[in-house]
Amino acid sequence: MRTQVGIVGAGPAGLLLSHLLARRGIDSVVLEARSREYIERRVRAGVLEHPTVELLREVGLGERMDREGMPHEGVSLRFDSEEHRIDFADLTGRGIVVYGQQEVVKDLVAARLADGGDVRFEVSGVRLDGLTSDPVIHFDGADGTRGELRCDAVVGADGFHGVSRAAVPHTTYDRQYPFAWLGILAQAAPVREELVYANHPDGFALYSMRSPEVTRLYLQVPPDTDADDWSDARIWDELHRRLGTEINEGPLLEKGVTGMRSFVAEPMRHGRLFLAGDAAHIVPPTGAKGMNLAIADVRVLADALYRLVTAGDGSGVDAYSDTCLRRVWRAEHFSWWMTSMLHTDPAADAFDRRLQLAQLRQTVRSRAAATTLAENYVGLPHGSV
Ligand code: FAD
Ligand code: DHB
Repeated sequence: MRTQVGIVGAGPAGLLLSHLLARRGIDSVVLEARSREYIERRVRAGVLEHPTVELLREVGLGERMDREGMPHEGVSLRFDSEEHRIDFADLTGRGIVVYGQQEVVKDLVAARLADGGDVRFEVSGVRLDGLTSDPVIHFDGADGTRGELRCDAVVGADGFHGVSRAAVPHTTYDRQYPFAWLGILAQAAPVREELVYANHPDGFALYSMRSPEVTRLYLQVPPDTDADDWSDARIWDELHRRLGTEINEGPLLEKGVTGMRSFVAEPMRHGRLFLAGDAAHIVPPTGAKGMNLAIADVRVLADALYRLVTAGDGSGVDAYSDTCLRRVWRAEHFSWWMTSMLHTDPAADAFDRRLQLAQLRQTVRSRAAATTLAENYVGLPHGSV
């Protein structure tokens, strides 16, 4: 079997790349380890930054997002028992849209299948070969038969735990944080219209939402936390105390612990293999940059691969890694900064705590500082970093 671009992983990165390539007449095959039901139900990120929203609209994926997504023009930061709003519309003229990652994935799968795209679910044993000459992806199909996919280029969009990164000789830059997030999805109408990021001496908390009926909430917990040790009553108590705002309670639809880490693998290319999204970089979730970065990568890659496979022009693919890493490191800094400013480090002393409050106060009181937060949060225009 032959295709122009072989893509490993049907997350936002792999699926969107396949869609962008198809719009330019380039064939691809997407190989995904999980089932379609699984990837469409996996609860993850929820915030689409402005350039992501614009891109999805531009490429025909904006219809349901515009109908069901929730546009927000600001967020609030809470610390020292007071709340302060950062007004994105006033500071940047732009905003964000709250729309779950699994909804983006559903829209992408539906679009690929409607266009006759080739997405293979439940494949296993993916192995990459010939990456500096004639790439081949070996895999086992859902029915157990061996498959061999020959391609002009391979894209590793298989997330942090995928197999592709190991095929790229790389240097890693890594930081782990001494806390994790316990996230819940609750069948409860959000009372707040926007997100609230709360810094509290007992730990960070975040108020978010998914729809007019569903609230999404997070609590800072120790890194080795077992979600089952947290009863519903304990979660709600802690949320009320740390967020200091009215919250509607409701039955939990989902509960899980997410580790916090910063990670970058450089470079993002080896021969004809290109890494995209979480396969190459991870940010801690504070600031919601993970999925947005994955989308920014494949926008650059779709252009570069188009030039490579249609005109033999390698200038785009040669620049791919450096171009993406500039935006990646901007997001790494922003996510690390938001994380450090808002969480309670168990090893922090009174001096650290006062520095943190000084940073928070400046962020909400200085228009220049608030604008820096706002422009990173709503997303720097693609190509501007
Ligand atoms: P992924 O979405 O991880 O997709 C990779 C795909 O590759 C998966 O479908 C996987 O099944 C498949 N795959 C893996 N290995 C193989 C293989 N060997 N063969 C074939 N297929 C394979 N970001 C935020 O901004 N806010 C959040 O609240 C947030 N919460 C998160 C919670 C969790 C538990 C996780 C893991 C991530 C979270 N993120 C969050 C990050 C965000 O979801 C990711 O940045 C985003 O999913 C990256 O997209 P991707 O397409 O690069 O990778
Ligand atoms: C959500 C996740 C984030 O990491 C964040 O910073 C804001 C919102 C969410 O899942 O809604």
